[in-house]
Amino acid sequence: MSEPLDALLHPFAKSLLTPPAPGRGFLLRAHWGAGLHDIWRQGLVCLQSFKPDHDLLAQAGFTMVDRLSNEKFDLGLCLLTKHKAENLANIARAWAAVKPGGLIVCAGRVDTGAASVARQVEESVASVEMIAKYHCKVFWLERGGGSPAALAAWAAAGSQRCVPKTGFYAQPGLYSWDKIDRGSALLADNLPTDLGGRIADLGAGWGYLSAEVLRCCPSVSSLDLFEAEDLALAAARRNLDPIVGTTTVSYRWHDVRNGIGTKYFDAIIMNPPFHEGKDADASLGQRFIAAAADGLVLGGRLIMVANRQLPYELVLKRAFRRFHVVAETGLYKVIEAIR
Ligand SMILES: C[S@@+](CC[C@H](N)C(=O)[O-])C[C@H]1O[C@@H](n2cnc3c(N)ncnc32)[C@H](O)[C@@H]1O
Repeated sequence: MSEPLDALLHPFAKSLLTPPAPGRGFLLRAHWGAGLHDIWRQGLVCLQSFKPDHDLLAQAGFTMVDRLSNEKFDLGLCLLTKHKAENLANIARAWAAVKPGGLIVCAGRVDTGAASVARQVEESVASVEMIAKYHCKVFWLERGGGSPAALAAWAAAGSQRCVPKTGFYAQPGLYSWDKIDRGSALLADNLPTDLGGRIADLGAGWGYLSAEVLRCCPSVSSLDLFEAEDLALAAARRNLDPIVGTTTVSYRWHDVRNGIGTKYFDAIIMNPPFHEGKDADASLGQRFIAAAADGLVLGGRLIMVANRQLPYELVLKRAFRRFHVVAETGLYKVIEAIR
C-alpha cells in the first residue's frame, strides 16, 4: 500500500471529486500503486524523474512525459515528498499547467510536513479543503487568480541553482543538495590519487564524488555516472562540464539495482543510498555492492563509504577477494575492496 497515493485517490473513490476525462489530468512525482486503475491510466499523463518509479508506471502502461505540454489541463495531481521547497515548486508548476477553474489535488505524509505545505498554500494562493487519511493529508484547491508573486517565488526556490556553501549546482529534493555529505567528504579525503582507466560513480547524485575524481586522479580515461534521479544528473552535468578536460564523462539515468554490466570498470566509487528512519534497510546498499562487484574487472577496486552500523561486510566478503577499512569516524567508514 502506498499511503500518499491512496490518500490522493481517496476523495475520488468517495465521489467528492471527479477523475479526469482521457488525457485531461497529470500526476507530478507519480508512482505506481494498485489504486491506479484504468480510468487513471487513460486520464493521466505522469511525470517522474526517479527511474525506478518511472519504470514501474511505464511497465503498467501509463503515459510518461518529461514535461507538460502547453495545453491547459482540468486536473493536476501532486504527490508530496519530504522536501517542502520541492513540493511548493511542484504546486506552482501544477498551477501553471491547470486551466482557470480547474483543480489541484495534493497528498503527502503527515510526518513529512504535508499539513504545513497545505497551510502555506492556503496563506498564499487559495483556500484548500483537506482531509486526513492513511497517516496523510490530502488537500485540494481551485485554480483561481492566486498570487503570481508567491507562485513565482516557490518556483524559483525549488529550481536548480549554484549553492554558495558548496560552489556546486543542485536543487531542493536532491540528496544533500545544500551541503557536502559528511560521508562523501570522508571518502573524498581518502580517495586514492592513483585511480585510473575506466571509473564509475554509483548513485552519483549531483556529482560531488565525480568532481573529486576529476580533480584528484589524472589517469582517469572515462567516468560513468550512474544515478536514478534525473534532476541530480542534470545538476551533475552542469557541475562537471567545466572540469572534464580530456576525460570522457557519461551520464546514465539508471537503476543500479539492475546491474551496470560486467567486468568493465577499473574502479568504482560510491556512497550508496539506504532507506533511512527507524526501518533502516541495508538491502539497497547491498545490491549496489553486488552491482559494483559484477561491473569491475578482475583486480578492480571498489572505494565506498557507508554509515558504520550498516551490515555490508558479509556481502563484501562474498563478492570480493579482499577488503579493508581505509578510514573511519564515529559515524562513517571508508572501505576499499579488491575484485
Ligand atoms: C547517499 S546519496 C550519494 C550522492 C552522491 N554520490 C554524494 O556523494 O553526495 C545516494 C544516491 O543514490 C541515488 N539512488 C537511489 N536509488 C538508486 C538506484 N536504485 N539506482 C541509482 N541511484 C540511486 C540517490 O538518488 C542519491 O543521489
